[in-house]
Amino acid sequence: MQVHAAGYVPTEVEWPSTWKDRAGRDRTPSILGHELAGVVTALGYGTTGLSVGQRVVGLTDWHRDGTLAEYVAVEARNLAPLPGDVEPTVGASLPISGLTAWQGLFQHGRLEAGRTVLAHGAAGAVGNAVVQLAREAGAYVIGTGRAADRAKVLDLGAAEFLDLGSDALEDVGGVDLVFDVIGGDVQRRSARLVRPGGARVTVVGPAEARPADGRTVDFVVESDRAQLGEIVQRVRDGRLRANVDTVAPLDDAVAALNPTERRHGKTIISVRDDR
Ligand SMILES: NC(=O)c1ccc[n+]([C@@H]2O[C@H](COP(=O)([O-])OP(=O)(O)OC[C@H]3O[C@@H](n4cnc5c(N)ncnc54)[C@H](OP(=O)(O)O)[C@@H]3O)[C@@H](O)[C@H]2O)c1
Repeated sequence: MQVHAAGYVPTEVEWPSTWKDRAGRDRTPSILGHELAGVVTALGYGTTGLSVGQRVVGLTDWHRDGTLAEYVAVEARNLAPLPGDVEPTVGASLPISGLTAWQGLFQHGRLEAGRTVLAHGAAGAVGNAVVQLAREAGAYVIGTGRAADRAKVLDLGAAEFLDLGSDALEDVGGVDLVFDVIGGDVQRRSARLVRPGGARVTVVGPAEARPADGRTVDFVVESDRAQLGEIVQRVRDGRLRANVDTVAPLDDAVAALNPTERRHGKTIISVRDDR
């Protein structure tokens, strides 16, 4: 694959898979970034469903070198078509945040219309997609975050906003689904808010406190071509807004990915500017 734009999750440097391969062997120097939009330049023997020259978007293997590069080898099943009317910088912002939100809400959270969702970190990369997808699915969404994020989260479609710095989480009352991207005390206290039959899903590691009468799911996002296609389609027709804060060239990636100021969305690295 020729990479046109790459996405990066700030916690990648903490993941064991960034530094070791599946057999536990040192794989440094590692190339970071696992999201990409680009063009297929060659196909491995037996590959079906893709063609050379096709625009694609996808999520690459955690244990292998990533997408902050000009070229990367990617399993075909990890890629979905990227239509010509979606910018590579937008496409590269979708795989991790979009698939995490999708899988947490619909697969693990079993969300149905009319349910109440507590979306933590709602202005962030994952939370932003959680709010929009849950709202579109007919849920009542309560977003949480920093005080400065209130207007953004309500604009994304949340019905209420809770400032975790000053509002009491317990005042939320009961919810059917907690989507946790923060962990720690917020995760623990959220367990008590889950109504009987509800769930708390988390993407930041195993939860200590469990809902008294509900499910708890700790998961890692997986690539899924069909789900990624659904997410891309929603961006195309305006049902889902991408959350890109900064676009920087590959030469400036180190500085761009280590910002001195608070981010307001994802940082995307534009590797090649021809579409
Ligand atoms: N398991 C998986 O498959 C998976 C997939 C995707 C992401 N993740 C993990 O999920 C986490 C979130 O990822 P992301 O990309 O959405 O990060 P992000 O863009 O930084 O979003 C997190 C949001 O939560 C806010 N926040 C964090 N702690 C808070 C607190 N104590 N009070 C109020 N607001 C708080 C952040 O605000 P500030 O920026 O001000 O802190 C930010 O707005 C990361 O740890 C990431 O590694 C896991």
